[in-house]
Amino acid sequence: MRMVDIIENKRDGRELSTEEIQFFIKGYTDGSIPDYQASALMMAIFFQGMTEKERADLTLAMVQSGDQIDLSEIEGIKVDKHSTGGVGDTTTLVLGPLVAALDVPVAKMSGRGLGHTGGTIDKLESVKGFHVEIENQEFIDLVNKNKVAVIGQSGNLTPADKKLYALRDVTATVDSIPLIAASIMSKKIAAGADAIVLDVKTGAGAFMKTLDDSRELAKAMVRIGNNVGRNTMAVISDMSQPLGYAIGNVLEVKEAIDTLKGEGPEDLTELCLTLGSHMVYLAKKANTLKEAREMLQGVINDGTALKVFKTFLSSQGGDASVVDDPSKLPQAKYLIELEAKEDGYVSEIVADEIGTAAMLLGAGRATKESVIDLAVGLVLRKKIGDQVKKGESLVTIYSNFEDVEEVKTKLYENITISSKKVPAPVLIHEEITE
Ligand code: URA
Ligand code: CA
Repeated sequence: MRMVDIIENKRDGRELSTEEIQFFIKGYTDGSIPDYQASALMMAIFFQGMTEKERADLTLAMVQSGDQIDLSEIEGIKVDKHSTGGVGDTTTLVLGPLVAALDVPVAKMSGRGLGHTGGTIDKLESVKGFHVEIENQEFIDLVNKNKVAVIGQSGNLTPADKKLYALRDVTATVDSIPLIAASIMSKKIAAGADAIVLDVKTGAGAFMKTLDDSRELAKAMVRIGNNVGRNTMAVISDMSQPLGYAIGNVLEVKEAIDTLKGEGPEDLTELCLTLGSHMVYLAKKANTLKEAREMLQGVINDGTALKVFKTFLSSQGGDASVVDDPSKLPQAKYLIELEAKEDGYVSEIVADEIGTAAMLLGAGRATKESVIDLAVGLVLRKKIGDQVKKGESLVTIYSNFEDVEEVKTKLYENITISSKKVPAPVLIHEEITE
């Protein structure tokens, strides 16, 4: 088999065989196929697309390019949740203990964040003592015992995807639905999930800015998952404005605690109940989505979900007393209000720009090497549709430096107040199951 023929086949619109796709992924991973040929193939795929069979083959070939996590010692159906990424998205911190409280095993492998705020691990590490450097066996034992544990990324997972994603980044071939879908799904499958719930974001703060693109990506991922034997569904949710109120690591941990207590923001709570219902249903712990939602509401109301969160924190070395006393979490030195300059209604809060403002405070990493400040960030006081009076606070800025003029300017530029009443955006756009 020759790589040049594979490129030519794709260039001319012919379907690649399973063997051709495996040949390419194996050769590219071991270095025998050079970047220039891989680039040509990526560009041919960008223009010609991929059939459903090719997408499944590419995903599996990438899964097989490296280690696969074996979670078979964990009892029950392991359902993983994946978000395509948004601003102020604390759902993972809420969903872990929430569905674990219903005996759905959550074996989460997670990473550090790049961009707006930290990743799940950064957020959790703001709890004193909490650590994710645990042995595989301990991880499995913890999930069996507590139903939820988080481990840092280890091993050599999907090296083909790592190499290809970096190549696509510099060859203008990231924005291809089949390539994105295969990339994301290969990582979830290698991490050992039996079933997968996808949260595909749409809007200004999302990877996919339009509903049509988000739907296409969601359908592509759901098909891949189901075609390779993992029960998969997707929720398309709004990311035109940040989720919840808090953006920043400690601030989001507090928001997650509030939500587990049943006192969280309405949108974050609703999204967690929606995603959680699908997780519980796919794990076969409920017969209908309605029943699953009632069960989730039940473990919030009776305090079980919060208790599971505490056990989870202390089992991995964390000081669980922060749940009852969040003032023990790292605190920012300065709290500065961003005052509305006029009366009206909030009509726009551009999510990605608000995320960048939080990063300027130090809440996120601009590069992989940046050190993040866990205490800082933003808390929105108003969301789209809310009425506001001149002088009222739009945002509280939590900072460790006093001069936040640059952040204020960015916030004013990206929060619009209109004289007319505007409806709040739709939160859950679609649920895709086939
Ligand atoms: N995120 C991924 O993991 N892969 C892509 O290709 C795009 C976004
Ligand atoms: Ca939030």
